[in-house]
This record gives sequence, structure tokens and C-alpha cells, in this order.
Amino acid sequence: MAEVVLVDTEADAGALAAASIRALIARKPDAVLGLATGSTPLSVYAALAASLTADALDVSRVRGFALDEYVGLPAGHPESYRSVIMRDAVVPLGLNPENIQVPNGDLATLQTAGLDYEAAILAAGGVDVQILGIGRTGHVGFNEPGSSFASVTRIKTLAEKTRVDNARFFASPDDVPIHCMTQGLGTILRARHLILLAFGQEKADAIAAAVEGPVSSSKPGSVIQLHPHVTVIVDEAAAARLGNLDYYRYAWANKHAWQGI
Ligand code: GLP
Repeated sequence: MAEVVLVDTEADAGALAAASIRALIARKPDAVLGLATGSTPLSVYAALAASLTADALDVSRVRGFALDEYVGLPAGHPESYRSVIMRDAVVPLGLNPENIQVPNGDLATLQTAGLDYEAAILAAGGVDVQILGIGRTGHVGFNEPGSSFASVTRIKTLAEKTRVDNARFFASPDDVPIHCMTQGLGTILRARHLILLAFGQEKADAIAAAVEGPVSSSKPGSVIQLHPHVTVIVDEAAAARLGNLDYYRYAWANKHAWQGI
């Protein structure tokens, strides 16, 4: 099962995840990070950036793969996930932009973009740690309900609810693209460690379904139950609908320091 860690604040969550990623980079300087967009991972990037500033570590060989990208946004659009990943993660962490790949949402190459991305991940030796948020529909990456657990990077149609949620980043809700290119649930399952973060009560249903619900493609987050190494870091509000909270707290309180996350 996933390890569930309850934290008081987003900053605590960020510090915990960042310490694990820092330790990974220290033992593997060309580590492959799975980078996520959205508000959720910001505390991780902030904590890791602060840690790297306080105590420098060579990140010049660190590689990164983004989870997803909108289809059809013009190159350089500020809300393309390429732009967001550069702004939120690559620049603050001081990563080499040449080592970072994002699925290609260009209309001209859509038919081959998915398999090209899969090949690139494979050529890099796979993702060492995948940072994940979760959408209100229960999506991870942009894998909306119904996505196959065996799916690979491909074009998907965004749920209306997801487009409404993401409208805050665009001038008008109609500007939110209808399609995206996203790593599949099968792609995510191949990452060696998954760190899923969620904060706030609006994520409580999605977290309960992912961690304790039936494994079902109707609840894409439940794919984590098929993975051998998952860390779920949540605040009290996002954890509110979990049934096994006492056990998670007990297990965390009694964990040996050497075990890490
Ligand atoms: C987007 C992204 C997801 C992200 C989700 C939640 O749709 N494609 O990767 O997890 O939103 O976003 P937030 O973290 O802002 O709540």
C-alpha cells in the first residue's frame, strides 16, 4: 500500500519531498525527475530550491520529464506547461533546460509525439521519482476517468471540470485547450518512486478514492495502489475522507529514520 504521511502545512510537505529528492540527486547526480505542474508541487520546488541555495549540490546533470502539455498552444505561450515547468521548477532549481523534456503539443506532430516521448523516457533509463498532484476529477497527469492503467503518452480530451479548474490561468474559460498530451497511467507506473501530494478539502474525495477506493480506471488516482513505492503526502483537509488515518499516523510515528520515504 501507499505510505500516507500527514503534515500540518504545505511547507512541511514540500520539505519532506524535497529532502527525498535531494538525497536522490546526491547519490545519483544524473537522476531523472518526473515534474508536475499545478499549485500542488510548488512547495516541493520552493523547498528544494531553498535547500540547494543553503547547501549547494551539483544539479547540472539532473534530467527531467514533464507529465503533460496542452495541445495547440502557440510556442512560448505563458500557460503552456513547457513555460510553467521552466518558470516553476527549472529556473528556481537551476536545472539545465536542455536536460528537460515536455510532451510535444504541436498540432503538426501529434500522431507521433506520444511514442517519441515514451522512447525518450526509456532512453533516459526511466523516471526515478515522479512528483504528482491530483485533480478534482481524480486525474493524475491529465489522465481523466476512464484512462487505461496500461496507457502510455498520448492525446487525451480534458474533462469539462478540469477545463473549468484550469480556466483561472487563462483570460477566458474558452481559451483552455480541449486536448492535451499526457503521460499515461502505464507510463507513471514505470517511475521508480511516486510522490503524490494533495492539500485542501476539495482534494479529499480524490485522495480517498486513490488511496483506499477500489482500483478502477474510473478513479485514475487509484493506479497508485498498483505501484510498489508510493508516498502520499497530505494535509488534514485532504486526508479528511481517509478511513485508515490512525494506522497511517501510527506507522509514520514508528518509522525508523533510515527508512526515508
Ligand atoms: C492539472 C495538471 C495535474 C495537476 C492538477 C491539479 O490538471 N495536469 O498534473 O495535478 O491540475 O492541479 P493543482 O495542483 O493546481 O490543484
